[in-house]
Amino acid sequence: LLRELILCDEVDSTNGQLLLRMEEGCGHGVAMFAERQTAGRGRRGRTWVSPFSGGINLSIGWQFNGGVQLLEGLSLAVGVALARALAEFEVPDIRLKWPNDVWCRERKLAGVLLELSGDLTDRCAVVVGIGLNVGLRGDSAAAIDQPWIDLQSVRAGIDRNRLAASMLNHLLPLLRDYPECGFGAYREAWLALDQFAGRPVRLQSANQAWTGTAVGVDMSGALILEADGEHKLFHGGEVSLREA
Ligand code: BTN
Repeated sequence: LLRELILCDEVDSTNGQLLLRMEEGCGHGVAMFAERQTAGRGRRGRTWVSPFSGGINLSIGWQFNGGVQLLEGLSLAVGVALARALAEFEVPDIRLKWPNDVWCRERKLAGVLLELSGDLTDRCAVVVGIGLNVGLRGDSAAAIDQPWIDLQSVRAGIDRNRLAASMLNHLLPLLRDYPECGFGAYREAWLALDQFAGRPVRLQSANQAWTGTAVGVDMSGALILEADGEHKLFHGGEVSLREA
């Protein structure tokens, strides 16, 4: 499944580098790890803090034959794949926060950033970016603007290379099979790990906010918010979610 593995000491952003390769037509089946990113990207324009050897910074380039609708729910399914990789190392208390964070003990352990390229109608290319906190020191961690946790404080002694291999072992088959099986194959597993199931939440878009109870996700991965006896659906790109 993997055509090329690239290991870097330092890059601006592994997602950025793989997007360039996708545009040049040579990014499919390529995985890139970087020890440090100087301009790591997070969702919604945020920076992803990636100091030297503090985490696992991974991007995978994948080309799909088909339109962008094939990718519905993919970022949530990636969360399930990461949870499965972490379970192999007996990392406790792993949960998923919609749309695509991995949480542990009420704090963020890893984030997923999907970036698209291609014409998005007949063929679409995606770069799946994953940042996982392994051991962040105080000086770099000070720049993180949300509650975070790292692997070494929940389960010490995990071999980073083995975890990286396990992540690839879970992610590559997911990408290969996703056009056939879609989010339906991952929904039950996602719901079983839902950090906010049944909890009061607040959803925020650029100019509006909604509060209600999070009651899971539908077959496309949209969040279901229950408010005043009604269900409203939200898609990942539109809003951010917080505990109310
Ligand atoms: C988020 O939770 O906001 C998503 C964070 C994604 C970070 C990873 S690190 C590897 C890849 N390269 C990037 O520049 N970003 C992603």
